[in-house]
Amino acid sequence: MSFINEIKKRRTFGIVSHPDAGKTTLTEKLLLFGGAIQEAGAVKSNKIKKGATSDFMEIERQRGISVATSVLAFEYDGIKINILDTPGHKDFAEDTFRTLTAVDSVIVVIDVAKGVEEQTEKLVEVCRMRNIPMIVFINKLDREGKDAFDLLDEVEQKLGLSVVPMSFPIGMGYDFKGIYNLWEKNINLFSGDSRKNIEETVEINDLSSSELDKLIGEKSANTLREEIELVEGIYPAFEKEDYLNGTQQPVFFGSALNNFGVRELLDCFIEIAPKPRPKQSEERLVNPEEKDFTGFVFKIHANMDPNHRDRLAFIKIVSGTFKRNTPYLHVRHGKKLKFSSPNAFFAEKKEIVDVSYPGDIVGLHDTGNFKIGDTLTEGETINYKGIPSFSPEHFRYINNADPLKSKQLYKGIDQLMDEGVAQLFTLELNGRKVIGTVGALQYEVIQYRLEHEYGAKCTYENLNVHKACWVDPEDEKNEEYKEFLRVKQRFLAKDKQGQLVFLADSAFSLQMTQQKYPSIKFHFTSEF
Ligand code: G4P
Repeated sequence: MSFINEIKKRRTFGIVSHPDAGKTTLTEKLLLFGGAIQEAGAVKSNKIKKGATSDFMEIERQRGISVATSVLAFEYDGIKINILDTPGHKDFAEDTFRTLTAVDSVIVVIDVAKGVEEQTEKLVEVCRMRNIPMIVFINKLDREGKDAFDLLDEVEQKLGLSVVPMSFPIGMGYDFKGIYNLWEKNINLFSGDSRKNIEETVEINDLSSSELDKLIGEKSANTLREEIELVEGIYPAFEKEDYLNGTQQPVFFGSALNNFGVRELLDCFIEIAPKPRPKQSEERLVNPEEKDFTGFVFKIHANMDPNHRDRLAFIKIVSGTFKRNTPYLHVRHGKKLKFSSPNAFFAEKKEIVDVSYPGDIVGLHDTGNFKIGDTLTEGETINYKGIPSFSPEHFRYINNADPLKSKQLYKGIDQLMDEGVAQLFTLELNGRKVIGTVGALQYEVIQYRLEHEYGAKCTYENLNVHKACWVDPEDEKNEEYKEFLRVKQRFLAKDKQGQLVFLADSAFSLQMTQQKYPSIKFHFTSEF
């Protein structure tokens, strides 16, 4: 197959949702359609189970699973589909944000009863900022839930999307009869036992026909007619271009658990979802069709075996062909590296591959050369823009608990930060190190991993910080800025990139500082 056709047949996407909306179940059903797995239950859930005895042991268990589920690839109808796993737990939100830099589109799963939840809002906001094409799947229609129109309104208002229903439910919960597919103009009848088989589909070209009454009963048929008229009156027609530009989002209804509405979603997805898209580097826009290989690291996974400190760096291929045993330029280090055993990922396994194409993910063994956001090329010096760091929610001093192991401690902290486990800030005043995280769980992870992988011990000490703000002065030489640096010295730190950060101890003090120094901008993300 030609290089161009290899690109055309790839779809690389992520499924995002609030935990429990049905992401794992939907992933599994998609893999079943692809024939990539034979039975339900094969995809291991990469989430923290409710009531786990220790969240921490759960994380350790997951670190194993999440290598396996990081990328799930399968073929369907001649299309190679790569699903990138995105953790739903909020403590791992940054991991998900970074994975979103490597997807070309997204499917958002929403629970019909719970509607738009907190994590969905955050993740969709990131997708919206990046104009990532999104399809919405409203799940669990076999259960009682919110009214479909109310839900569509909620999705528009809370998520800031412009929805276009591609299917519409007939009843719900106990009374759920099936789905009318506006995209294919047919009805799928729900029998309740369609877990394994593909559901029965009936063509309905004319909703006014009496066939419909026979099929779902007169009452339901009339309701459906009214609702579809309303849908067609309220919502615009689907425009593929608008979807691809991120300004319109098609919506499907279904039940992942019952494998209902999933085929429709998948068929529409492979027809409309984008093939690998061009990516912006700091220097220029790079097209997938370019001959020379380029790619970037969006995830680093530490080896589970503490005796071997090697890691797996996940590279998204942006352009050209990636070949095994070929020297590529590690742009940040300015040196060439060769990879003898790049891994490609399939539904349940990983394998060494000789060539990979744009849209694909390869896993490269790494002994500490990579950090998140690094670019690899055939020789050109370009740097892919990474995802910015967001202000952490928690801050603690990290102290060395074993003075004989300080070298190990600093190396460990350095590498864990490169992996993106947390953020490090070094105080300007005294050089003390502060770890900032999205969730409290990360502190346990860091402590455990420092000890087991690096032989170092640490303790933490609380630090009262409300927000980390990246400092952006209008003029570094003006008196106002100099005064700010002097007066606020106690609250200033450098992040790992050497950017200056103001650690505001309360919302009030941040507000006062902003008022007192109007020429300085304070940003909540590292990219501005
Ligand atoms: P997540 O990855 O988004 O966190 O969600 P997951 O797929 O694990 O689904 C969360 C729960 O919702 C699971 O039940 C799952 O069986 C259920 N579920 C998913 N899709 C549907 C659906 O269409 N209808 C109904 N009624 N339930 C659905 P659980 O009891 O938490 O877990 P399990 O013991 O079944 O695995």
